[in-house]
Amino acid sequence: MSHPETGVKVPFEIGPEPVLIRKEILENGPSIESYRAIGGYDGLTKAVRTMTPHEVISEVKDAGLRGRGGSGFPAAIKWEKVASHRVREHYIVANGSEGEPGSHKDHFLITTNPHQILEGIIIASYAVSAKKALLFVKESFPEGIAILQRARLEAIEAGFLGENILGSGFSVDIEIFVGPAAYIAGEETALLESLEGRPPKPRTKPPHYPTERGLYMCPTVVNNVETYAHAAHILKNGSEWFRKRGTAKSPGTMVFAVTGSVRTPKIVELPLGTPIRELIFRYGGGPLPGEEIMAFFPGGPSFGVLSSKQMDVPLEYDALRALGSGIGSGGAIVLSNKDCLVATSLEFARFYEEGSCGQCPPCRIGTETIAGLLEQIETGQAPPGIIDRIVRVSEMIKGRGNCGLITASAFSAEALMKHFTNEILLHIEKGTCVHHHRTPIYNQFRSTGTDK
Ligand SMILES: Cc1cc2nc3c(=O)[nH]c(=O)nc-3n(C[C@H](O)[C@H](O)[C@H](O)COP(=O)(O)O)c2cc1C
Ligand code: SF4
Repeated sequence: MSHPETGVKVPFEIGPEPVLIRKEILENGPSIESYRAIGGYDGLTKAVRTMTPHEVISEVKDAGLRGRGGSGFPAAIKWEKVASHRVREHYIVANGSEGEPGSHKDHFLITTNPHQILEGIIIASYAVSAKKALLFVKESFPEGIAILQRARLEAIEAGFLGENILGSGFSVDIEIFVGPAAYIAGEETALLESLEGRPPKPRTKPPHYPTERGLYMCPTVVNNVETYAHAAHILKNGSEWFRKRGTAKSPGTMVFAVTGSVRTPKIVELPLGTPIRELIFRYGGGPLPGEEIMAFFPGGPSFGVLSSKQMDVPLEYDALRALGSGIGSGGAIVLSNKDCLVATSLEFARFYEEGSCGQCPPCRIGTETIAGLLEQIETGQAPPGIIDRIVRVSEMIKGRGNCGLITASAFSAEALMKHFTNEILLHIEKGTCVHHHRTPIYNQFRSTGTDK
């Protein structure tokens, strides 16, 4: 069903301090005219006409912008490394892959306001003197591809993209790259492999950090599409304005999705530091009738689960990391007392097993082993000591692959075993689930469902 005022199909709410999700744009559509009407491309105009590339990076640094794709790494540090690299051929890459279960912010931003993403990418290209930028989007997202291609042409027509942007002498193009619909393709070095025409398999790191050796072995900034969108607003309004929202160490807003066993799953933009309770109750509408919240993954399954007792934790990078979890890409999945923890854990374990590119033996074998052990519990065939075995295998494989998928799979299973030992023991004792194996619904906003 569409939103009655805007026609947007995915349920959303405008947050208390809107920056990226603006009512005017949602009502008028994703055209360049509606973006220009709220001051769109003013940040780029200011940057290329009045600032040096170095000053642009300083502004983003002062704003304290952290990556919105998972790790929360400061964007300006990547930009600085690439800008000052002795190799002079530089690239900007925008990650619009979005495969984490429960996450939907990038799809939402691409379809509702593509120009703020393009503007941020052009600003970053100017900052690091890149001659080319690429925006990766999956083939399973045709609506987003069409919207981005149209937006690119509009930006070229208006003089914001292409040759001699706004008469500044600076030129850059953005290629909308249509890549494979695989979860692993979102990992930054797998994404680079894909851009170079190879299957999406992560590179070994070090030495291949993208800022040193990225696309075609040249210094490359890889940022999430939301990260670039924030940069556009920072350049327009300044770093002090950006810091008025969020916390000192996690400034600004972020677009969240709240899904799972809540009454009103939706997308909402919130200042970083907002308590997770507010996301779940005020925006997600709280638990389904007659149910209680048991657990939640604040940033999707890759970032670990927390229990209902931890609902006052602020949605920001460091507080969640301190609890062994993470903000991830903002896709919070809520589990109620009617959901089966084992079935949910098994579903995620299968997701990692199928999503593994298979090149690292600990990952190939470890993800399969974890899924197999969880299946034994789920089907009532668990041997004694199986919880310890899952925890041991998880500990053994963490960090032993080329990318974070292996660690995500370990975290996801291990956190559930450790936080909910009693519930899982009960499941083992009864040989089945007392809640009919229900798993929370978390990818309902995506027309293509979950990637493998
Ligand atoms: C298995 C895996 C999948 C990932 N998928 C995505 C993704 O879909 N989108 C994304 O922005 N980052 C994804 N990442 C993180 C990227 O590798 C990278 O850190 C990010 O794009 C950097 O952008 P940021 O600094 O703006 O957050 C993934 C990482 C791993 C290990
Ligand atoms: S850790 Fe897993 S997904 Fe990542 S590169 Fe190795 S095999 Fe592939």
